[in-house]
Amino acid sequence: MATKLLKRKLGRTDFEVTTLSFGTMNLKYLSEQEAEKLLHQVLDLGINYIDTSRAYGNSEERIGRYLSKRRDEVIIATKCGCNPHLDKRGSGHVLSFDRPTLERNLENSLRALKTDCIDIWQLHGATPEKLIGGVAGEVVEFMQKMKQQGKVRYIGVSIRHGPNTEPGYPSRYGYECIQEYPEWGVFDLFQIVYGGMVRTSEDLLQYAADRGAGIIVRGVVRDYFDNFSALFAKARLNQLLAEGEDRRAFLIRYALNHSAVSSLLIGTNHQEHLKTNLIAASQGGLEVDRYLEAKKRFAQIGSKPGFLVGGIQAESLTKVTS
Ligand SMILES: NC(=O)c1ccc[n+]([C@@H]2O[C@H](COP(=O)([O-])OP(=O)(O)OC[C@H]3O[C@@H](n4cnc5c(N)ncnc54)[C@H](OP(=O)(O)O)[C@@H]3O)[C@@H](O)[C@H]2O)c1
Repeated sequence: MATKLLKRKLGRTDFEVTTLSFGTMNLKYLSEQEAEKLLHQVLDLGINYIDTSRAYGNSEERIGRYLSKRRDEVIIATKCGCNPHLDKRGSGHVLSFDRPTLERNLENSLRALKTDCIDIWQLHGATPEKLIGGVAGEVVEFMQKMKQQGKVRYIGVSIRHGPNTEPGYPSRYGYECIQEYPEWGVFDLFQIVYGGMVRTSEDLLQYAADRGAGIIVRGVVRDYFDNFSALFAKARLNQLLAEGEDRRAFLIRYALNHSAVSSLLIGTNHQEHLKTNLIAASQGGLEVDRYLEAKKRFAQIGSKPGFLVGGIQAESLTKVTS
């Protein structure tokens, strides 16, 4: 079975990214030895994009420690707006979007990653109203300045999905932000929740891509709710699985059918999962008949464009401003 990952252009950037990329949110739970092995395996398998954040514990430090000698093999995306010293386990990240925070984050990221330039520098979960002054405010101005100075190559937004107590979790912010941010014309990339089980933004990704933005999607195989596996079965999607294919492999291939998507960002702390994800991604999108039937069946469980998990129409909710 072919296991070579294809690459896709990342919006207006000059990067070509592998269709599977690696998320390091949970890397901090591994031992040093395990983290070193896994990070090398990611590159050995040909994956060329790794996502991290100032907020992911020692993830940046580990990437710097173990991969700095292989820097030219990897596109590193990290995030800013973080206050890791204030984060408390289980209560989400403490974020603030102002110049001093960004300045401090960038200095620390460059040092931790042992690099002199961040490839992709993203706001960690910022919604437009959090950016005082909008496109003309100090945050965008500072990000652009860092780009001009060569400290970062491209800038973007990693759009938040939480908290899980809010209606519309996990895709409402993505649905709203992806309609607004591309108009600003300054961000080179968006990272957004999208997949077969969460198709809310499916019809909007092309809109952002047409405006030059690269699209990285996350949440493709994540069970945001405990009933996702049961819902998949309820929609008789199991009947569409090919021999030897499991639910996650099918979801990976489904997401790759979207032509606006450059890469699927998936995190795992298990080498076996990394390999099976790679095998699925290497096969590309689903065959047309399975893809079209999958769309119909996802829709039967409420997963369709413009709809939130639970079958609520996204437009029916008042815009989130938190
Ligand atoms: N606001 C933000 O900016 C934001 C928020 C969240 C995440 N992120 C980024 O996006 C990345 C991906 O996050 P995500 O939310 O999509 O979730 P994720 O962290 O990738 O979670 C995927 C889950 O699925 C499991 N998994 C992966 N492959 C599997 C397989 N083949 N079989 C069984 N289980 C599998 C993983 O567990 P195992 O370890 O057991 O495989 C993990 O618990 C993160 O690592 C992070 O870099 C950004």
